[in-house]
Amino acid sequence: MDILHRIEDVRTQVRQWRGERLRIGLVPTMGNLHQGHLQLVKAAQDEADRGIVSIFVNPTQFGVGEDYETYPRTLDEDCAKLRTLGVDVVFAPSVAAMYPDGPELRTRVSVPELANTLCGAWREGHFDGVATVVSKLFNIVGPDVAAFGKKDYQQLRVIERMVRDLNFPVRILPVETLREESGLAMSSRNGYLTVEEKGRAAVLYQTLCEARERLLRGEPFAEVEVWGRDRLNASGFRTDYFSVRRAEDLKEPTTKDTELVVLAAAWLGKARLIDNVELSLNLDG
Ligand code: PAF
Repeated sequence: MDILHRIEDVRTQVRQWRGERLRIGLVPTMGNLHQGHLQLVKAAQDEADRGIVSIFVNPTQFGVGEDYETYPRTLDEDCAKLRTLGVDVVFAPSVAAMYPDGPELRTRVSVPELANTLCGAWREGHFDGVATVVSKLFNIVGPDVAAFGKKDYQQLRVIERMVRDLNFPVRILPVETLREESGLAMSSRNGYLTVEEKGRAAVLYQTLCEARERLLRGEPFAEVEVWGRDRLNASGFRTDYFSVRRAEDLKEPTTKDTELVVLAAAWLGKARLIDNVELSLNLDG
């Protein structure tokens, strides 16, 4: 497995693979890899001949006062895990390599319709930073497929929209969320939880699952949203949002919509946790 830091070196490798007509899979990450990331890598490997994992803590997607400085950077451990999976290349650029003129975005990729709601309403500019860095990675690597986790549901929808609108020749592979035995979605930020908080964090997924049951029984969206927020707050979370949306475009659903997702973001101690569940309503039944 090669660990490349320079954009030119990635391009040279990709050019060679393209010459051999090999299909390339990309998994963009910020490192501190857990089993959920490894699941993304396996999904991309299943669809490609060569796999590249990028590891880059992207400054432009962190807001003022967020955890950019303290975000765990564990390149050696990450590479050891990726080596066991047979990944071909790790691309681990420096901030200077990705943003030679500094990380203030002079050109930005923005998907406003999807990016200013839910997490975007709480983290101003976050999805512009994500869309811009993912565009750069797509332009550097030119992958045939790229895997993104459904845990970051809004991010997945932003990237899908961007790929469609800007004609990136890449297929986005959505990958199911991997969970701890308790149901807690795997996330690098779970490392911010104390042992006691980690036990309690499972309430987030339990609440989402119960919300799904309530919706399937026909409870109105707004009532389920209020119930979910109250339950989380009563369990010691500080809830940013608990929201029922259309799965396709994250717009507020009407009573005619059947494909839904319930999304939540809530703080527990120092960790801001996000999670979601999808559901299909049967309006005939
Ligand atoms: O999901 C992440 O880890 C990041 O948002 C991503 C997609 C790697 C962009 O920096």
